[in-house]
Amino acid sequence: MTLPKVFVSRVIPDEGLNPIREACRATVWEDELPPPRDALLRSIEGCDGILTLLTDRVDDEFLERAGSQLKVVSNFAVGFDNVDVPACTTRGIPVGNTPGVLTETTADLAWTLLMAVARRVAEGDRYVRAGRWKTWGPMLLMGPDVHGSTLGIVGFGRIGQAMAKRAQGFGMRVLYHDLSRADPAIEQELGATYLPLEELLPRCDFVSLHVNLSPQTQGLLNAERLRWMRPSAILVNTSRGPVVDSMALVDALRGGVIAGAGLDVTDPEPLPADHPLLTLDNCLVVPHIASASRATRGKMASMAAANLLAGVRGEHLPTPVNPEVYDRAT
Ligand code: DGY
Repeated sequence: MTLPKVFVSRVIPDEGLNPIREACRATVWEDELPPPRDALLRSIEGCDGILTLLTDRVDDEFLERAGSQLKVVSNFAVGFDNVDVPACTTRGIPVGNTPGVLTETTADLAWTLLMAVARRVAEGDRYVRAGRWKTWGPMLLMGPDVHGSTLGIVGFGRIGQAMAKRAQGFGMRVLYHDLSRADPAIEQELGATYLPLEELLPRCDFVSLHVNLSPQTQGLLNAERLRWMRPSAILVNTSRGPVVDSMALVDALRGGVIAGAGLDVTDPEPLPADHPLLTLDNCLVVPHIASASRATRGKMASMAAANLLAGVRGEHLPTPVNPEVYDRAT
């Protein structure tokens, strides 16, 4: 029996790679950097299944080059804004993602950024390493309290709600905004109050973003909305970089419109070393690592493999983002 041909666009943890290698003729892109577009397109030709990362753009050109035998695109991420899902659905190709397993780990990192910017952890570390720590200073590196403050959560899905749980432990008031209101039982359990964005932003000491990237959320935090925030407020983004207008954020951080930002995601990504955000002491940037605990990346790999293998076998994916593809086939 011929094994299905698959392409895996980067080395992922063994929990995913081993079962794929056992069941398929797998080509794995071994470099640290993503395959350049032309190499990606060459590599996917004739594949039955493709495991993509958020750095790979899956569009009409990609699907054409893969060929009509393609049975599945399995994205190693919960987000899938890199995939043109309607284009896949039109061709009858299910797309998988990895929901659920990275919720708590991502909220942990969002919380870390919130705490670190508030308490000026990265600045303090730079201060010490630069040999500037001469004595205990009563005025040194002061920041706001986190406990007892007000957190605004924009995007109240799984990860946003996991942030609300953490805020409870810090005695914080939790406000949230989303396209629709959460179940009243969830609001009550998490002590979270719904507000329209224009009412939420001026009331918060911290604002944490947890929306998907879509045409509606691109540039959601633009110059105008940043001005709705308090001058003392701190913005945390672990969602997608383009949700925040980067240059508006630079201006807001420089001009004291807001006090600080903690970013796991940026626009562009990666951020060039000479980007103005990296010149600002009140901006902390990490390289899109919110889901990067060993255990969580292992679970993501295993889920992505399960989607890929189900797809190449013609079975329903465990976690499809376009389940309507199956209605279309029947
Ligand atoms: C995702 O899964 O969408 C994250 O951005 C990477 O884990």
